[in-house]
Amino acid sequence: APRLFSGMQPSADSLHLGNFVGALLQWRELQRKHDALFCVVDLHAITVPQEAASLREKTRRTAAQYIAAGIDPEASTLFVQSHVPAHTELAWVLNTITGFGEASRMTQFKDKSARQGADAASVGLFTYPVLMAADILLYGTEVVPVGDDQRQHVELTRDLAARFNSRFGDTFVIPEAITLPDTARIYDLQNPTSKMSKSAESESGVVWLLDEPAKTAKKIRSAVTDTGREVRFDRGEKAGVSNLLTILSAFTGEKISALEQQFEGRGYGDLKKAVAEAVVAEFEPIRARTLELLDDPAELDRLLAVNAARANELAQERLAQVYDRIGLLPRA
Ligand code: TYM
Repeated sequence: APRLFSGMQPSADSLHLGNFVGALLQWRELQRKHDALFCVVDLHAITVPQEAASLREKTRRTAAQYIAAGIDPEASTLFVQSHVPAHTELAWVLNTITGFGEASRMTQFKDKSARQGADAASVGLFTYPVLMAADILLYGTEVVPVGDDQRQHVELTRDLAARFNSRFGDTFVIPEAITLPDTARIYDLQNPTSKMSKSAESESGVVWLLDEPAKTAKKIRSAVTDTGREVRFDRGEKAGVSNLLTILSAFTGEKISALEQQFEGRGYGDLKKAVAEAVVAEFEPIRARTLELLDDPAELDRLLAVNAARANELAQERLAQVYDRIGLLPRA
């Protein structure tokens, strides 16, 4: 089966609807036909300030949400990035073949550093995409399922892999990003022209996987729409309605055009009700299962350790090959 790698940052107490649709929903399907690794990228999370106890908690919570959403830790390899030192080690090597200008062009870095102020942004934030390239390349990854916002990082990964291969000989597989075209980007419910994000200004536009069902339904019912009444997909004129249609399509598997037909002559209230029901039906059991898993952190930690051992073995092999190719003296 083709090798697959993806990950998420443990940077909030809960994943949000965008993470669920852009990542987990795809992962769950793809794991059946792939040799998949799913990582909780804690080393990426520390590129912005984190509080130690809270980071540990968020890392467990993120892993628990993967499992609760249907990632099978027996069939797939579900692990914590910092448990496999080769990620950091390969990242250093890749840093040495990444251009300063090339890294400067990453739009996520430009956005995040602009928000923090250029002087507050860390070098880690700058070189973050290179660590992501290491994550992917260590495992001979062929496919990387991500949301839209990560595509540029996968492009960089491909460039670095090709560059390394041409300088040092064939070592890395060139990976491919996959996104579901219709649902690759979920927008904030209150601000439907900016993407749903952990760092949103207001909580009310972000639906968290671990929100209580009543809260989720309320947020969806209060989503911003427009003054028209027609349920029609039109990103320019009807950003809010289009976002709701996208969400409903992701959760029901129905095409947006079919949903438009279904809602012909019906109002926004009906649409919101359908979206709220679909989301709550999916999230409620995931929430319950996550809380259950978190009740037994020792068992969760044990699972993560077993999975990290598996990842370590794979990663060590390629790292050794890389070190050899570039001429590092082996330890006798
Ligand atoms: P992160 O933690 O920001 O997001 C995790 C995943 O969720 C997707 N996503 C969205 N999809 C649709 N709509 C949204 N509003 C939305 N918000 C987030 C992201 O595209 C991502 O797929 N750098 C990565 C983590 C990472 C990684 C990797 C991913 C590190 N190493 C290797 C793949 C392969 C990140 O910060 O994702």
